[in-house]
Amino acid sequence: MIYNIAIDGPAGAGKSTIARRVARELSFVYVDTGAMYRAMALYLLRREVNREAPDEIAGACQDAEISIEYRDGEQVVLLNGENVNPYLRTEEVGNMASVSSANPEVRKKLLDLQRKLAGTMNVVMDGRDIGTTILPNADVKIYLTASAHTRAKRRYLELTEKGTACDLSQIQKDIEERDQRDMNREISPLKKAEDAVLVDSSDMSIDQVVKSILQIYRDKVVKSEKESGQ
Ligand code: DC
Repeated sequence: MIYNIAIDGPAGAGKSTIARRVARELSFVYVDTGAMYRAMALYLLRREVNREAPDEIAGACQDAEISIEYRDGEQVVLLNGENVNPYLRTEEVGNMASVSSANPEVRKKLLDLQRKLAGTMNVVMDGRDIGTTILPNADVKIYLTASAHTRAKRRYLELTEKGTACDLSQIQKDIEERDQRDMNREISPLKKAEDAVLVDSSDMSIDQVVKSILQIYRDKVVKSEKESGQ
């Protein structure tokens, strides 16, 4: 029996931290789909593709082969064979990913890879459209969110801790713009699946969020296994 947990939500809601922890607790594999979109965005930035030109994006993305490997339990994203993990977490790449991920050709290229991963192993997969489009039959669906201000503050602290100079109000503006784009695009917009559980982490610690998701998983999956005598 293969189990899938889908975690969707807006930028900065803490999805990757939470999903990684939940996966570790359950010995599942963590699949970060945002990193795949970021790798595609990196490719487009390197090729200096015009982000305002959907046709250029659709054409250029055909030459980018994205694949995934796991090294020491960590997801490594390969872009045409190169490990691009070190280049994915910049604001420039994140903003480009938010634009290019609205392109149907980009989404088509990554959909199969994501479904295949979830079909072969127990995964906690995070993204924007996992519960709605990629894994509509996921065993557990979580919609993880927090206020834009909370998300901006978390990002600001993360960057300043790394020694990166940044401006809180600019970060909040970027986050709000990304929310707008991710929620209003035509294809696979970010939205809560009807059967997803809403978790608002604005006033919750990471531990509390992880605990509540594990509880949701146990309530749903472990109970139904007991009932069916597995
Ligand atoms: O989660 P993230 O910040 O790494 O995602 C980067 C961008 O990729 C985000 O703005 C929207 C897009 N994305 C998406 O469209 N679908 C997903 N499943 C994951 C990410």
